[in-house]
Amino acid sequence: MPSIPQFSPSPRELDDLELITSGAVPGPLNAPGSPLTLDLPDEVAAAAKEAGAVEVVDPEGLPLAHVAWPGGAVNVLSVPAYGPFRRLHLTPAEVRRRYPGRTVVPVVGPLTDAAIAELAGLGPVLLLALVGTGTPELSPVALLRASLLAAGQLPDAVVVACPLAAHGDAEVDHGLGTQVVATYAGEDPVHALTEDPTDSYPDDIAAVIDFDRPEPERRGLVLFFTGLSGSGKSTLARALLDRLAEQGRRTVTSLDGDVVRRNLSAGLTFSKADRETNIRRIGWVAAEISRHGGVAVCSPIAPFDATRRDVRGYVEQAGGAFFLIHVATPLAECERRDRKGLYAKARRGEIAEFTGISSPYEVPTDADVVVDTTGHSIEDALGDVTDALREAGYLDL
Ligand code: ADX
Repeated sequence: MPSIPQFSPSPRELDDLELITSGAVPGPLNAPGSPLTLDLPDEVAAAAKEAGAVEVVDPEGLPLAHVAWPGGAVNVLSVPAYGPFRRLHLTPAEVRRRYPGRTVVPVVGPLTDAAIAELAGLGPVLLLALVGTGTPELSPVALLRASLLAAGQLPDAVVVACPLAAHGDAEVDHGLGTQVVATYAGEDPVHALTEDPTDSYPDDIAAVIDFDRPEPERRGLVLFFTGLSGSGKSTLARALLDRLAEQGRRTVTSLDGDVVRRNLSAGLTFSKADRETNIRRIGWVAAEISRHGGVAVCSPIAPFDATRRDVRGYVEQAGGAFFLIHVATPLAECERRDRKGLYAKARRGEIAEFTGISSPYEVPTDADVVVDTTGHSIEDALGDVTDALREAGYLDL
């Protein structure tokens, strides 16, 4: 019997799994036409197919469920008992047992003054906070904090959390949301809040919003320079760091490619797998810095598109902003400069897998700004970067 492979799902996939295990959606995972999916990497999918199942584990490695593969039927092994406001995560069956006869109000954003006034006359209500990864207005934990504050201002209200992740398609998510709300409500009435175009909130809710979605001045920021060796990434990053230090309004950490390879990534080679590991490490640290409102300036080659996109995801997940700067100095110019003599060595075959010579560089299609240092001073190139940062509303240097 081949052993069941393990898989640690993304936050979105964990949310989807919870919808099924709670009975909010009948399942299975990967039902035809359903957005609730588990996307296994090819090797894991192959092993799962052979074993007939995959074991889903949480980020700490605790087994959560066996998912039949390729079928998708879910067999629950354990229910996570942690996470902020876990006690508010109830299944539809628990909701009907504990809170029968309440008007169910789906909540996707912080309740405004007008919304609270609208609910005050409805009798006992159940605020069903549709919290999930990637939902636009507030982080899941802040939406719950705001909903509890709103409930405190109503005559008789309780809050229940349901993990409804965004799947990148508004229509799909709307359909799923409607289905989930109907399951939670059962026979009880559902009340859809009137859209309120104002952003007038009670003071305590306004404070929750402000803490969760800080002004650009206080929001974490990752400035990620990518480009060939010798393109001028490090020089530009250095100049930008100096500007930030001179201004003195933000805490700043540098994660330069060569420097990281001497400490955090010491021992890694330049194989594709090791480069990916290197970039993921940089991205992980940068995301944590952004979580705390800091600025991280990264300047590795980062030749692979998928890895750069993963890093963008880590940062956004941590609540930071990710800004990709492609230093697009052409190979011929980098090689002409050859400040470290590495291109000459690579041409002579003395360095294997050298980016641009014997290892690929995938040009970004998602750069927030592109600069070419050919024939430009560093000051000029830096000006392009700072202009773009100002226009995007992130930094005014
Ligand atoms: S990355 O591909 O993993 O992002 P990283 O930025 O950390 O690369 O390291 C690149 C630096 O390592 C280059 O600036 C260069 O000085 C040095 N280096 C040594 N060997 C290689 C190689 N095979 N390819 C690219 N850079 C190399």
